[in-house]
Amino acid sequence: MTSTRTFANRLLEWWQSHGRHDLPWQVDRTPYRVWVAEIMLQQTQVATVTGYFERFMQRFPDLIALATAELDDVLALWSGLGYYARARNLHATAKTCMEQYAGELPSDPALLRELPGIGESTANAIVAQAHDRRAPILDGNVKRVLARHSGIEGWPGRAAVARRLWQEADAHTPATRACDYTQAIMDLGAKLCTARAPSCSDCPVAADCTARIEDRVTDLPTKKPRRQRPRRAVTLALVENRQGKLLLQRRPPTGIWGGLWSLPRLDELDSTDSGEAHQSIEHHFTHFILDIEVRRIRLTDPTRISDADNLAWMRPEQALQSGLPRPIRRIIEAGRMMPDTP
Ligand code: ADE
Repeated sequence: MTSTRTFANRLLEWWQSHGRHDLPWQVDRTPYRVWVAEIMLQQTQVATVTGYFERFMQRFPDLIALATAELDDVLALWSGLGYYARARNLHATAKTCMEQYAGELPSDPALLRELPGIGESTANAIVAQAHDRRAPILDGNVKRVLARHSGIEGWPGRAAVARRLWQEADAHTPATRACDYTQAIMDLGAKLCTARAPSCSDCPVAADCTARIEDRVTDLPTKKPRRQRPRRAVTLALVENRQGKLLLQRRPPTGIWGGLWSLPRLDELDSTDSGEAHQSIEHHFTHFILDIEVRRIRLTDPTRISDADNLAWMRPEQALQSGLPRPIRRIIEAGRMMPDTP
């Protein structure tokens, strides 16, 4: 039974043979190097960071070198890494440390968190790796690992979900080997418990992973809820003549469905007949949802239709050969299947 051994023990054993041990910030591990690495790694993958990290260390080997550098030189070395506020914050923090902390980076996570660009997880990652002191971390990779292992639902950006994840992070962090454990859980997230293609069969904590047991691995962590899209409504007319042709309307060149053929909008027909309900469809655009109501109109006098240039009678087969928006195609296809109602 694997689950009688702690999460941390299983993870550490896996990391010993499968984790990363020769990243540039793991060798010659000083608080300064760990700090710079953690800031670079906040928004950027390890593979991109390593080259930047080595160049940065050559040019600014310690905190004093960074504090006395010109900001332009720091930014130049950051060029291409993106999120340049990180570089400005590093430079400002180096100066603050010279002035307030005798040229050292604070080792108290509470003091680290007061510095610009250092949140709770980054502060703890620095303390764990630089001082081998127990401090739980919860970066993006760790959130994914823990949401899955403990089966925590809900978007981690929500405070209540984050609180639960922090509880799990705290519960699993061992009393000793803080540095190795921190690297191990990050490596698990980066190598096995990946977002899209997790390798559960190789995972040291799969035996008691809730998401794996319940087959919810790719459902967790819950994605950020999409912003509610506004709704619009349109009523379209299904008008059929005696030869079984449908009235179609070409949409104006701009706007939704610009230039495509569609069923005519009821409010753009001169018909006084509001017809009878035929079908309702909800169509999802990127920025809004369109409620389409289709009403069947009995046409008594076809000349009473305005905007004649953009109207055409078409057999359903011909209409289906034209450029039609997808929901309109579906309406026409469905209509072909249905027996004519007298
Ligand atoms: N992401 C953030 N910190 C990291 C680290 N120390 N190793 C690998 N990936 C990381």
